[in-house]
Amino acid sequence: MTPLVAPNNRLNLPDGPRLESNAVARMWMERPVEFWEELGARYGDVCTVELGSIGTTVLFSHPDAVRQIFGLPTSSYECRPYNDYYKFVMGERSILLADGASHRRMRSLVLPSLQPRSFDRQLDDFQPLIDATCESWPRDVVFSPRLSLHLLSLRMILGIVFGSGLNPTAQKIADVFANEIYVDLGSLSAWTRFVHRKPLLREFIAAEAEARRATGSTERACLFDALIHGRDEAGNSLSHEEISDHIFTMLVAGVDTTAIALSWALYWIYDNPDVLGRLQRELGEGGRSSANLPFLNAVCLETLRMYPVVATPTGRKLLVDTEIQERQYAAGTTLLPCTHLVHRRADLFPEPDRFMPERFLDREYGSHEFFPFGGGARSCIGAVLAPVEMRIVLARIVESGRLTPAHTGPVKPVRHGTLIAPSESYQFIAREPQPAASTTTSEARA
Ligand code: HEM
Repeated sequence: MTPLVAPNNRLNLPDGPRLESNAVARMWMERPVEFWEELGARYGDVCTVELGSIGTTVLFSHPDAVRQIFGLPTSSYECRPYNDYYKFVMGERSILLADGASHRRMRSLVLPSLQPRSFDRQLDDFQPLIDATCESWPRDVVFSPRLSLHLLSLRMILGIVFGSGLNPTAQKIADVFANEIYVDLGSLSAWTRFVHRKPLLREFIAAEAEARRATGSTERACLFDALIHGRDEAGNSLSHEEISDHIFTMLVAGVDTTAIALSWALYWIYDNPDVLGRLQRELGEGGRSSANLPFLNAVCLETLRMYPVVATPTGRKLLVDTEIQERQYAAGTTLLPCTHLVHRRADLFPEPDRFMPERFLDREYGSHEFFPFGGGARSCIGAVLAPVEMRIVLARIVESGRLTPAHTGPVKPVRHGTLIAPSESYQFIAREPQPAASTTTSEARA
């Protein structure tokens, strides 16, 4: 890190690199993991950076600080300034851009549809989607499964949102993604293409909303129905624009995250023969009850610990002076827990750089120690659904016994938009499947 400037408003803030905010933003985007590790090594549990347009940001990697930040009253901070750049993709009315009462209302509208009692019956639809994904892989040549995992993740979320992946509007949206948006995954290009296709997707969603309203049904069988029957602060029905923005938010927040988590999980499983063997044994033990795939669950958690796909929770920009760990932070400062640094603390996770799923069998971690889905009032609304999706997909792929790693070099964590994904060297070879997969969806879902 090259020291450049000394910000003059740093007197009461923790120390940090004297770098111009654009230089920090560049490192944050271009080599995020190395940059955080350098900050942690040099400044310890807390440091201050000037982070691009976000401004003065304090990065925390002590679990006690994380607990305090997650517990702050929502009236003491706002998140819109931190999430502002999402408005072009998700839309002005996205939950990510809301604060206060409006944010609470949006969460209470969508959260019930993302609980197991709501999405459970849609999980059976996943099996054919996973099989079709595996079938799409070329045989006996080096390839990357990543794009196919993004399309799979998209189809799973569409099934949850529309109540069935077979819904014609869900299928039309999936086709637009398959043919025009997910044609490659290069940096931000897929989401740039998405922004161009938003008017068409809005038309699809508006027509679906009209059709559902016309039935007069009051059933809330899926997230789309919940939005149709939802009300804004004034008690009015949501506009088509608002419904679209909520659905775009689910797609943007829920598709790439889950796909990249799956990509990392396959990397760790196939690069650790002991882990693969233990997983195969667990999956091979027939007659297991749904709660009894603890090692598979631990593999998912350890995957999310090693390289948290969403590298930090949402930054909280203080509206009032606030004390964290006996230090006062002035209004206007952004507080940001660093998930990567907390997840690599040796005092919490011995041998932190080793992939060891057993650690999650031996110990329960607090929500301030292990938090791949963030925490507090802004925690991820897909935090229950995503691990279920991961378990179902991984069980099916591992049982089919198709993949062998064939990386073309060291696999490193790199940016995929705002997320942390495996580098391009991440490659596999797929073989013909082995017969008789035994684990059913119901065993992997719980
Ligand atoms: C492995 C997959 C996923 C990971 C690692 C992940 C992680 C996260 C994280 C770290 C946050 C910020 C939380 C905070 O600020 O405290 C977040 C927010 C969010 N996530 Fe996820 N997520 C995943 C999947 C999903 C899915 C499947 C959905 C939708 C169905 C979803 C929807 C959202 C939404 C809407 C927010 C914003 C919540 C708010 O601001 O109130 N995520 N996610």
